[in-house]
Amino acid sequence: MSELDFSPPTSEWYYPSDEIIQHAHVPDYEAVVREAEADFEAFWAKRAEQLEWYEKWHTVLDSSDAPFYKWFVGGKTNIALNALDRHVKTWRRNKVALIWEGEPGDHLSFTYWRLWQETNRFANILRGMGVKKGDRVMIYMGRIPEIVFAMLACAKIGAIHSVVYGGFSEQALADRIADAQAKVLVTADGAWLRGKTVNLKEIADVAIQRSPSIQSVIVVKRTGQEVYMESGRDFWYHDLINLPIASTVCETEVMDAEDPLFILYTSGTTGKPKGVVHTHGGYQVYTSTTLEWVFDIKDDDRWWCAADPGWITGHSYIVYAPLILGATSFMYEGAPTYPYPNRWWKMIEYYGITILYTAPTAIRGLMRFGDAWPERHDLSSLRLLGSVGEPINPEAWRWFYRVIGKEKCPIMDTWWQTETGGFVITPLPSVPLKPGSATRPFPGMSVDVVDEEGNSCPPGQDGYLVIKRPWPSMLRTVYGDPQRYIDQYWSRYAEQGWYFAGDSARKDEDGYIWVIGRVDDVIKVSGYRLGTAEVESGLVSHPAVAEAAVIGVPDELRGNVIYAYCILVQGYEGNEQLEQELKEHIRHEVGPIAVPAKIEFVQSLPKTRSGKIMRRVLKARALGLPEGDLSTLEG
Ligand code: WTA
Repeated sequence: MSELDFSPPTSEWYYPSDEIIQHAHVPDYEAVVREAEADFEAFWAKRAEQLEWYEKWHTVLDSSDAPFYKWFVGGKTNIALNALDRHVKTWRRNKVALIWEGEPGDHLSFTYWRLWQETNRFANILRGMGVKKGDRVMIYMGRIPEIVFAMLACAKIGAIHSVVYGGFSEQALADRIADAQAKVLVTADGAWLRGKTVNLKEIADVAIQRSPSIQSVIVVKRTGQEVYMESGRDFWYHDLINLPIASTVCETEVMDAEDPLFILYTSGTTGKPKGVVHTHGGYQVYTSTTLEWVFDIKDDDRWWCAADPGWITGHSYIVYAPLILGATSFMYEGAPTYPYPNRWWKMIEYYGITILYTAPTAIRGLMRFGDAWPERHDLSSLRLLGSVGEPINPEAWRWFYRVIGKEKCPIMDTWWQTETGGFVITPLPSVPLKPGSATRPFPGMSVDVVDEEGNSCPPGQDGYLVIKRPWPSMLRTVYGDPQRYIDQYWSRYAEQGWYFAGDSARKDEDGYIWVIGRVDDVIKVSGYRLGTAEVESGLVSHPAVAEAAVIGVPDELRGNVIYAYCILVQGYEGNEQLEQELKEHIRHEVGPIAVPAKIEFVQSLPKTRSGKIMRRVLKARALGLPEGDLSTLEG
């Protein structure tokens, strides 16, 4: 299992106040778990009934083609119907849906009515470009309101969006476009980050040259920097919205519950990133239920999910779930420490944020600057906090709890994945907490820690995390590669029919789950998910590199950093200059988040007799630990 020692205290309890419990949507976690266990299909059907459907489903769950499960079969809906259309018919039309602040300090807000119109306009533009139901639209931009319009616009017309995080570069974008065979790309001239601009359009231009499927490009002006615009292919968004086709009224496409909503590429064990597919029906039910219950969203809240819309956290909990709930969300464009380390705290005070959901790496990054920065600000509006992306170390948890939450805000540590669509292991506000544990499964979820054979591990023993029955927002397939879907998630415990999450974990005496980390070749760097294969193929695409292996090494701030080991092509010399050159190469090929912290030039790599690189051995070497059993090494 994990090669790292992971033994936080399991007896440190934090109890929610009576006020928190009484206020909560679900004051009694156990009662809801009992309800869900009694009949979990009825439980999910009841949640689905809270939403609007053009036509009701006839079957809640169809397992006849497992693991290709289908939810709310026969149901007709569209997530945009629930996120926007239904709200503009009620008092919510004038409620603020989205408040946005740019890094330079500019800000905007959109009521449900405005957001609905912006989305409709964008949807009409896409339709005008020939985008139809089922077509793929690639989105590559920063955290600006237009990314939300673009995603919702795709949903509205039944197109499948695929957002690529703005921190990915040319080749990563081109690979994803090629896999999705996207017709249209939506991007921006640039994005603001740490007072500088990221050249999104320039990167996109290189990717488009490698992407014959792209017919048109929509470019949002954000930074105002000079960009190349190809006549007949590239169009400024601000020009398009003035065209007669860009009407603010747009009919919503009626979708089957099981029609795809988006593809989100994520790293897996081997090879290229996989396109995780989510659908309209089950996804809207699960994401909205989990957000409402875990973060106790109410009409007077100001919810801030500080993730990027380009990752699943942003898809589910910046864009879709908050809008379905009719909530007010806040989104910030830039870096947490720009221009000073109090930027976040200042915005919480200014906008009166009530719930902050972020990642351990961000918490640790801000903690570094000391207590004085947050203490300058009135953070009393906060009532709940949240964490996601990697295990939170108890020290960061306690700091977040004490300095930011003033010991009155419970921390919802939510474990989930791109594949799960929404929170899976998570407390509700009424559940007592232990720092470092995501506590217990969301009601209706059947989660366990098991050994190789599938036996439940006793408390304290490491095992694999599995999900034992389907849930509405589970991924439906890997885009274009159903076999990979089976192999990756359902083959390890095929006999039992369980979903294999790829994480190791341990339970304690109280049934609390402690997630340890990945057991495959996925590395979490600052909470971002990267595959060793992506970085390795980026390295070998450089003429100097014959072979490469990368590993994740624990890092106090970023959770993990990447170490790379390269065998050079004869005639090349491994020196500092080449190391810099390779780092720059990775920055372009994969993206800044994938740049290795260290590159070592080696003569050989430890391999098994079958030729598989033994990352375990590399990791042990990097950490100065015993290398363990090497008997299967290449002779
Ligand atoms: C890790 C992010 C511990 C885990 C939503 C999982 C966590 C991977 C937590 C999925 C948490 C996420 N505690 N580990 N609260 N949340 N992880 O697809 O290893 O980017 O498998 O989804 O992040 O990463 P992904």
